[in-house]
Amino acid sequence: MGRILVTGGAGYIGSHIVRDLRRNDREVVVLDDLSEGHRAALPEDAELIEGDFADPKLLGRALDSGDVEFVVHMAAFCQVGESVEEPAKYYRNNLDKSLRLLDAVRRSGVRGVVFSSTAAVYGDPVDVPIDEDHPRAPTNPYGETKLAFERALAWFHRAYGVRYVALRYFNAAGADPGGGIGEDHDPETHLIPRLLRKVLSGDGDPVPIFGDDYPTTDGTCVRDYVHVNDLAQAHRLAVEAMEEGSLEAESINLGNGEGFSVREVIDAVGRVTGTRPETAVAARRPGDPAILVASSERAARRLGWRPQLRKLERIVETAWNWHREHPRGYGAA
Ligand code: UFG
Repeated sequence: MGRILVTGGAGYIGSHIVRDLRRNDREVVVLDDLSEGHRAALPEDAELIEGDFADPKLLGRALDSGDVEFVVHMAAFCQVGESVEEPAKYYRNNLDKSLRLLDAVRRSGVRGVVFSSTAAVYGDPVDVPIDEDHPRAPTNPYGETKLAFERALAWFHRAYGVRYVALRYFNAAGADPGGGIGEDHDPETHLIPRLLRKVLSGDGDPVPIFGDDYPTTDGTCVRDYVHVNDLAQAHRLAVEAMEEGSLEAESINLGNGEGFSVREVIDAVGRVTGTRPETAVAARRPGDPAILVASSERAARRLGWRPQLRKLERIVETAWNWHREHPRGYGAA
């Protein structure tokens, strides 16, 4: 079994992937500039190459030894709102630099790529649950650049034979129940960590509920929350499937198939923590679709993926344990 290069392996989802791979005795090398990631999120036995994932010298160092068999490409900017304000940043990083990485990958003899994609490739859903054949119509540069790279993977597969699995995540949440790693973004824009931080600190403005006039049961947006360890497991299964030759080139959704409204998430946070975070209804956030729920039937069929931590309360509980033990994230580690 060859080594696995994980770009962005020190980030929130990346660090859970690295931990899962190490637990399954896979050799890992991480390429991360630590702009968003944290050194403390990595196990001591994972090699870290610190720097830009498109730097030819660093890629040479990672790939020229010839023992990297698969690349898990996680390094990316991932804020939808920011991508609308600064599209150049997203085209440069998520597309241009990713293409340079892909070119190095196809020259190096790497067998396959697992790519961190997103439900944002679908835009406003016309059908729910969303399966992989749902029209792709991104409504922001974040989803647009992720989709463009998926398409590049398909053409590179055809021309050079590099295998790929693009995993389209719905709403990643939670933290490894084993402790020590979790979500630490700055600024934090995601609903669950914002609510948990609010419970912990109590001060500052209430957490905004971005719109309560959507066509949903309680008027707030509905999302499909999926545990970060279950996402991590899917990456390993994708590597194994490419290794065995049962997967060549595929895009696959990862979600639990169940939607929860913002108010239901607030209720779950209240039950898990014993404190109801202070919230206030605010204007809609531009670009938010009313409902995003996945069909993950293909993930079950093609990867044998069975999410373990499916219950919303259990997902929130793992996140709560991380936030409680690390109130200042990795800053306190
Ligand atoms: N929300 C609030 N208040 C907040 C933060 C979020 O009401 O303070 C709402 C949002 O409007 C949305 C829901 O909570 O309806 C979830 O929002 P998140 O910011 O936690 O997650 P998103 O659904 O916006 O985005 C996530 C990833 C994206 C990915 C998308 C695909 O962050 O990268 O899922 O489903 F594209």
